[in-house]
Amino acid sequence: MPTIRSLSALEILDSRGRPTVKTTVELDSGAFGAASVPSGASTGRSEALELRDADPKRYQGLGCLRAVANVNGELNDSLAGRSFDQAALDRTMIELDGTASKARFGANALLSVSLAFARAVAAERKAPLYRQFAGIAGLTPRTLPRPTINLFSGGKHAGGQVPIQDVLIVPAAARTIAEVLELAYAVYRAAADLAKRRYGVRELTADEGGLAPPFASVEAMLQDAVGAIEAAGLRPGTDVALALDVASSHFYHRDGYHLGERKLDGSGMIAFLADLVERYPVVSLEDGLAEDDWSHWPQLHERLAGRTLILGDDLLCTNPERIRRAVSARAADALLLKVNQVGTLTEAAEAASLARAAGWQVTVSARSGETEDDWLADLSVGWNGDQIKVGSITQSERLAKYNRLLEIDRETGLGLVTWPQKAGNG
Ligand code: PGA
Ligand code: ZN
Repeated sequence: MPTIRSLSALEILDSRGRPTVKTTVELDSGAFGAASVPSGASTGRSEALELRDADPKRYQGLGCLRAVANVNGELNDSLAGRSFDQAALDRTMIELDGTASKARFGANALLSVSLAFARAVAAERKAPLYRQFAGIAGLTPRTLPRPTINLFSGGKHAGGQVPIQDVLIVPAAARTIAEVLELAYAVYRAAADLAKRRYGVRELTADEGGLAPPFASVEAMLQDAVGAIEAAGLRPGTDVALALDVASSHFYHRDGYHLGERKLDGSGMIAFLADLVERYPVVSLEDGLAEDDWSHWPQLHERLAGRTLILGDDLLCTNPERIRRAVSARAADALLLKVNQVGTLTEAAEAASLARAAGWQVTVSARSGETEDDWLADLSVGWNGDQIKVGSITQSERLAKYNRLLEIDRETGLGLVTWPQKAGNG
């Protein structure tokens, strides 16, 4: 088993210019690996705790010097000189932390070590990172994930001009990652032209690179997405389908869902979403309902299963306990997997395997605050993700992942997951 020589962390900045953590793990063999952790904006309440300094004099309190000090200090002191496999390392860190939400060291500190260790071990074994990730989860990479790519943004990623957070394109007809990117480019350019003509605005993008013109309504946002696919000479639903991240926890308040002028209860929201799925080629529907609206999720699933994936992000928070609850309630049929929601690779692997065991699909996802690190691409292949959700094709922190997928494609020759697939346990 690999022996850790040292841990060394650094505060770096993410794609929003906010601090995050990058850690390097060195092994006794001299092999080393480094990894950076991402950070969300539309976070679920059940996510593990991202430790911030809360010092208003630096980065509006968002500094990560305490998380960095936890890696360089207590974690280094406890782990250096000891031998681990991934599961033992993650378990040891969870025990040392001792809190349910990883509040003492910070999930950002723990995840940076968990990921950097995986990379160091891959380096020691001279294995590609996707193979190392596959080994941790007891899997063999079979396919490449199909990217879902941000086209239009609203909600917390774009200053809230429209309540729904993201309209993504799913290049259903593409057979390789290179073809996915070609189709995405064509639709994105057509959408940018359409936005300029229709809204007379400059090409401004949201946190994940989606275009964010001032849509009058959710409806207009979807119509324009279909219009852009057509303007690119492609067939909506056949060549390029749509995915929605409704992110509805963020416009749900005690008395209902506040969709612009309208206020809907749970059943009203389900009817609203069913109507969208009826009229637009939506093949994946993320967080259609709020994270704690457990009583309505099974109804949403029953209504739309088989037509579109019912994908849980804030609902599940990559948390094994919440996934178990959702499986038994038949509340969803797809898991949005964000490793930093739970804080270690081992726990995220458990989350993915619970989802698989239930016949669910898995969408491996980046965060809206990302870094230039590309480990997510390897994770999506190693864990046989059905989809990968990284953002748009315009910013280097997003492209690092797409470009890495191109390399993995060339290296492995694995085929892209076919689409559409039959949705899970519907
Ligand atoms: P976040 O959102 O990274 O800002 O939390 C991304 C998503 O909701 O998928
Ligand atoms: Zn989401």
